[in-house]
Amino acid sequence: MQGLKDSSITDNNFGQEDKLLIRGDKPLRGEVIISGAKNAVLKLMAAAILVPGEVTLQNVPPLNDVLKMVEILEFLGGKCNYNKEREILKLDFSDITSIYAPYELVSKLRASFVILGPLVARMHEAKVSLPGGCQIGSRKIDLHKKGLEKLGAKLDIEHGYVEATTNGKNLQGCEIYLDIPSNGATENLMMAAVLADGITVIQNAAKDPEIVDLADFLNTCGARIKGAGTQNITIEGVSKYQLKGVTYSCLPDRIEAGTFLIAGLATKGNVTVKNVVPHHLDALLSKLKDCGADLTIQDNSINIATPIDGYTGTDINTVWYPGFPTDLQPQMAALLTMSQGASIVKESIFEDRFSHVYELNRMGSSINLNNNIANITGVTELSGTKVRGTDLRATAGLAIAGLMAKGVTEVYGLDHLDRGYSKFVEKLQGLGAEITRASAN
Ligand code: EPU
Repeated sequence: MQGLKDSSITDNNFGQEDKLLIRGDKPLRGEVIISGAKNAVLKLMAAAILVPGEVTLQNVPPLNDVLKMVEILEFLGGKCNYNKEREILKLDFSDITSIYAPYELVSKLRASFVILGPLVARMHEAKVSLPGGCQIGSRKIDLHKKGLEKLGAKLDIEHGYVEATTNGKNLQGCEIYLDIPSNGATENLMMAAVLADGITVIQNAAKDPEIVDLADFLNTCGARIKGAGTQNITIEGVSKYQLKGVTYSCLPDRIEAGTFLIAGLATKGNVTVKNVVPHHLDALLSKLKDCGADLTIQDNSINIATPIDGYTGTDINTVWYPGFPTDLQPQMAALLTMSQGASIVKESIFEDRFSHVYELNRMGSSINLNNNIANITGVTELSGTKVRGTDLRATAGLAIAGLMAKGVTEVYGLDHLDRGYSKFVEKLQGLGAEITRASAN
């Protein structure tokens, strides 16, 4: 891109790696098509382990996390054929040759821990590396473990691995109460219960759209799941022979859509996101309205426009769906740095998801962070500098800040961004952003 030259000096924190170069302070305008949802696709891929036939998934974006999941599934013996251009992924688990998922693979993709449930349900044993914590928090698995034990599996955690066995028997349906409505635990247990004998009820389940998508997919394959999207999910177990391969299109990514809507308002622009399910974004849309955004909501698109006098601050608290999503907190924090007035952003899902705050303050924002609560006083200007995102959504939030800032912002941490945003740079360029990716090689 003309005028966007890489003038960085290598230092310890900002080394030889890809980065975004953004010249900000320019409104985004236009339409953007939203891709399939990362957090749904990865679970549908794991669910294919239950099905002894060919599953075809459509609307599968070419994300690094998808590619890593393919590696894991292939390691287990699944046949995977991914057409990245057409975004179609075929998976065939007619045969499974390994019940073991090693650290080297699982550690690259924490979400892959959801293979445990389907693997132990189908194979009656599994050995899966513990996923470990990450930059945003400890990412515990106690609820996955307790639930699988209630279903009749014996679990040992040793040397960094979870070893699960049912001693050759089927899992047994039961009632499982989750202390908190964890997404991963709901998904792991729901998938495990599909092949259990009898009926399983998961109480206090996560209600996210990705859970509903997973249940819809499994039901299309022949599973009997009711209540997904509510706090009680009932699963009547079936035999693996009752599950058949199907073609299924993954739901759109509400977090990607939210990211572009926030970027539209943050740059005082006018952006339409297409291929979305608007009610999945209710919490965000309500907050954007509080900020003064003009929203036009149609069946599968949302337009955001900015009033002439800009936008005001608002308060958010991240909570379980249908509350405000933690995965949009960093992007929203970036937006609020330049709102009129003050805002309070509280993170209630993860222990440590505020690394972007320090970088935003280096760009000129005024944020005080205390006990997982960020007090933001709106400023009139951000100024571009080098910043680093330490997780996926933090990097997206810093990119939004770069689009708002005067001068050039260099955003590092693209290994995180590549995990979850497909064609991020191209989509922003399509909206008129001055953004480019500078490659280290
Ligand atoms: N938790 C427990 N015990 C458990 C499981 C979870 O205490 O057994 C705690 C976690 O430590 C965490 C909280 O519950 O503090 C949320 O965990 P949850 O299990 O709901 O999250 P997850 O399944 O690990 C998914 C998404 C995250 C998203 C969260 C919350 C995927 C692959 N990841 O994680 O997405 O933030 O739900 O909505 O679906 C992202 O896309 O950037 C991302 C981090």
